[in-house]
Amino acid sequence: MSKKLETQVFGKEIYRYEEVTSTNEVARNMAKEGASEGLVVIADSQNKGRGRLGRSWQSPKGQGVWMSVITRPQIQVQDIPAITLITGLAVCKAIRQTTSLPAYIKWPNDIVVDGKKVCGILTQMSGDASKINYVIIGIGINVNIESFPEELEEVATSLKIEGGQNYDREEISISTLEFLELYYKEYIKVGSLENVLDKYKDLCITLKNQVLVLDDKKPYKATPLDIDKRGGLIVVREDGGKETIKFGEVSVRGIYGYA
Ligand code: BTN
Repeated sequence: MSKKLETQVFGKEIYRYEEVTSTNEVARNMAKEGASEGLVVIADSQNKGRGRLGRSWQSPKGQGVWMSVITRPQIQVQDIPAITLITGLAVCKAIRQTTSLPAYIKWPNDIVVDGKKVCGILTQMSGDASKINYVIIGIGINVNIESFPEELEEVATSLKIEGGQNYDREEISISTLEFLELYYKEYIKVGSLENVLDKYKDLCITLKNQVLVLDDKKPYKATPLDIDKRGGLIVVREDGGKETIKFGEVSVRGIYGYA
């Protein structure tokens, strides 16, 4: 039996489904109808799981945490990436707490173990420059998946593959919601990433190695220096020039592999 969820807002209302199209889609429809901040949608499987950049997200039955949280932050649109960074930090902490696996954050928000992705985060918002209506935080954690198709083997993994055992999905989702609420509250209170940035940087594997910045024009090698208070990655190019890469602008890879 899993421990009880100890949060004030996130997960006070939880809707559980056997199968949905996408938990983000279900949560979005609920948010449109006025659902409150903190409402969580969890499914055993998704038949139209969504990834970033219009990709699909494999969500096999009973083998992962497929969940979405409705938030209604009163922040500027340009600050939404910070919510995604916070979520990455929360999932990373939760995986470490519940499995003891050495999980790290690949900037901005993939979680990797042994250099391969175990979790993806998809935040989707509704609103305009003057007001955000809601932000859906979608979290997909590969928990007990035993294998991946050949084309994904190099970049994707699961907690079970890494740890050699099954893990309790409920426990991982509870821990994720607890860390998420903690960091989200902190972020909203302070109005910047200031108070969580050190924790994020400690676990950010991108800061530890050289990276390849997959710029639209020409990929280039760079050395990561720091993360700024808006979540941007500061790098130094090989020609010595400094660059701040903003969330969503370009992809960053390790020079020897995915992370
Ligand atoms: C990525 O491409 O890295 C983001 C993947 C996000 C997957 C999660 S699973 C729960 C939620 N519902 C979805 O359809 N997508 C997100």
